[in-house]
Amino acid sequence: MKRTVIRGTGRYIPERLVTNQDLTQWMDTSDEWIKQRTGIEQRYWVKEEGGVGASDLGLEASKIALDRAGWKPEDLDLIIFATLSPDIFFPGSGCLLQHKLGLETTPALDIRQQCTGFIYGMATADAYIRSNMAKRILFVGSEVHSTGIDISTRGRDVAVLFGDGAGAVCLEGIDTDEDIGILTTVLHSQGKLADGLMLELPASRLNPRISVDIMNEARQFPKMNGQIIFKHAVRRLPEVTKETLEKANLSIDDIDLIIPHQANLRINQAFQNTMNLPDEKIFNNIQRYGNTTAGSIPIALDEVIEMNLVNKKNYTILFVAFGAGLTWGGVVYRFA
Ligand code: UT7
Repeated sequence: MKRTVIRGTGRYIPERLVTNQDLTQWMDTSDEWIKQRTGIEQRYWVKEEGGVGASDLGLEASKIALDRAGWKPEDLDLIIFATLSPDIFFPGSGCLLQHKLGLETTPALDIRQQCTGFIYGMATADAYIRSNMAKRILFVGSEVHSTGIDISTRGRDVAVLFGDGAGAVCLEGIDTDEDIGILTTVLHSQGKLADGLMLELPASRLNPRISVDIMNEARQFPKMNGQIIFKHAVRRLPEVTKETLEKANLSIDDIDLIIPHQANLRINQAFQNTMNLPDEKIFNNIQRYGNTTAGSIPIALDEVIEMNLVNKKNYTILFVAFGAGLTWGGVVYRFA
């Protein structure tokens, strides 16, 4: 049977370290508030003068993942690029990355599923592979948040949460009798709650799409109802864990590690408590990177592999995510 397996991973984090203390020069906040409410201690942002987009961070992560897979860009049948911060409004960052990889006509598509970008990306890749539409796929989750957030006190609820960064995963279709690779994917969305976390501009429903008046209202920055997002996240993560495990015909004891999206350490701790998980069964790195949205799970996966946590046959990881859309979902992956 056809299965989707990981051949290589990579991550790229820009150099500009921004601590919680650094943020206090622009907004009324404190290290104590941010750590207590979110667990975040620092994040990395691209250089202040601009010129670095999501595809640039994605390119660096991709080079590492391709190298570890032993692949050349020409080996790819498809690029899947997940981001909520595309380099430009259109075309998608996947096309820009395709060119930066030196490719001529390899197909590329963008996924706009925010924090659930990795989960939707894995489901899409798995569908392409299982239906023989592609054999070798590069998934990239990449965000440049720092150029698009309001770093004044007005935007502090959102600004302190987000970091820039990219993760990449090389996926290959193989024929095997073993129960390995992507075992199950579950996807959900709920557009009714789209305005719980959104970035409105530039908007095709507005004419003009962007104007000085609109910008004076700060509508070019993301808006979030933090408490609504929090409430739904702590409900949906356990719910989708249960659903994903049931679909895979597995129990939580069959899972060696859960890598949840990194939105807020308190969300992940509430999830951990609800699921009654020991500390060693859940991976968090939001303390160091903030919320890198589509980048968060592939960055974490790359770290987990680098830390040699995948240390036994059939090591099984559950990925779960929740975010703007609203969107949420789960993936079970088993290493050979
Ligand atoms: O992937 C999805 C991405 N988003 C999320 O996951 C967000 C989920 N929500 C959250 O993480 C939390 O709701 C936040 C961390 C955003 C906010 O925490 P909270 O405990 O819900 O705080 P709050 O919104 O109830 O605000 C409490 C106070 C307010 O002041 P007053 O009205 O009590 O005087 C805020 O103005 O904290 C204030 N505040 C801040 N203070 C210092 C909001 N942001 C900040 C800040 N620094 N950065």
